[in-house]
Amino acid sequence: MAFTRCVLDFTRRGRLDSLVRVICVAGARPNFVKVGPLWRALSAASGVDPYFVHTGQHYDDKMSQVFLDQLGLPVPAAMLGVGSGTHAEQTAALMQRFEPVLEQIQPHVVIVVGDVNSTLACALTAAKFQLRVPFGWRLEAAPRTRPVVVHVEAGLRSGDNAMPEEINRRATDAISDLLFTTEVAANDHLAREGVAAERVHFVGNVMIDSLLSVASSDAARRAPADLGVSARGYVLVTLHRPSNVDEPVHLTALLHAIASAVGDLPVVFPAHPRTRARLDAIVAASPALARWRIIEPLGYSEFVGLLGNAALVCTDSGGVQEETTVLATPCVTLRDSTERPITITHGTNRLAGTSMPHIVDVIRTTLAAPRPAVAAPPLWDGQTAPRIVEILQRAFA
Ligand code: UD1
Ligand code: UDP
Repeated sequence: MAFTRCVLDFTRRGRLDSLVRVICVAGARPNFVKVGPLWRALSAASGVDPYFVHTGQHYDDKMSQVFLDQLGLPVPAAMLGVGSGTHAEQTAALMQRFEPVLEQIQPHVVIVVGDVNSTLACALTAAKFQLRVPFGWRLEAAPRTRPVVVHVEAGLRSGDNAMPEEINRRATDAISDLLFTTEVAANDHLAREGVAAERVHFVGNVMIDSLLSVASSDAARRAPADLGVSARGYVLVTLHRPSNVDEPVHLTALLHAIASAVGDLPVVFPAHPRTRARLDAIVAASPALARWRIIEPLGYSEFVGLLGNAALVCTDSGGVQEETTVLATPCVTLRDSTERPITITHGTNRLAGTSMPHIVDVIRTTLAAPRPAVAAPPLWDGQTAPRIVEILQRAFA
């Protein structure tokens, strides 16, 4: 077997042949957050036999297991254990390791979320996989011989093909059968790309289902005090985009720009492992960063607690732009583009670009501005996963 661990329970197969077998795939930090609510809704639904497959793209406990624990995800039915590598290595190894899992489970539906390499690799494998027994579903007259590929968080576009995620988004959407979107701009992109309207459903944001499920937890409430910072009295930083963190000269300039703009405000920086690899040497040589609380990646509940109480968040994360929008926490995005325009139009997020003087200016302006008072975007209401599962159930009714 190509995968490292497989605990599929095939003794149940005879009993479950009338059920719709659904594989939910996740393997990187943001995607555990997206799959958690889907898993709960699928597990509660009638007529569904759900399987959780972990690709192993992220594998440190703080990038993986803590999310499974906090979001109620089960022991994976299969752990593909792909680990790190180049894009081609990771994508190819995932496809080779996912195919035997499809062979064993014979799923009617494969759900992928987000825009990481695991998303594309598993969508592509599933889209070409031939099942042993054809089945019917509502969108096609002929019996279907391949799993229905479902993309959750479809249609987002940054317009920047230099981002590997943009390639993953476009390619995954092009081969998906059902596409669930978080904001109306995504529906517009898919319509322009020729995706039939009956395959696209605007359902809201599953990530916000997770956010709302932990936002009032004890762990979230305690998080600022546990780190020795006071509510609205600190800046929270996350950085992991290759364009920001892979080149040490650029990363050093970026950190110094943030430090100079925030002045005396304490900075908390849970560092992604990609960033950590370059960070220690930079910090050792930078007195301006000596006061920063540079820590390991945080568990989800703790991180959400810090997001909700920060005076400002500086980030290049996709998910964090969305979470700050619902929490009404001011966010400065350290990128030239965003695939999530609703976070800008809603008034919580500002794009600072990559020129250092401009970044300093945008951070200072944002800190001086009144805190935004906004309602959550349409359908970012904590009920997106049940909406998706209901649509799936209707498609197989
Ligand atoms: C990946 C996604 C990115 C997403 C991010 C979320 C792709 C192309 N990129 O980027 O879209 O925003 O996840 O966090 O899919 N590492 C560890 N431990 C881990 C995981 C990674 O040390 O548990 C280190 C390894 O050195 C690895 C590097 O981080 O080479 C990058 O990991 P990788 O999954 O390739 O990309 P991310 O930068 O995490
Ligand atoms: N997150 C977390 N702990 C951290 C940093 C981020 O729990 O230390 C969560 C964050 O709340 C969001 C997700 O991780 O739900 C975002 O992941 P990331 O920024 O790695 O990926 P992206 O969204 O950019 O793809």
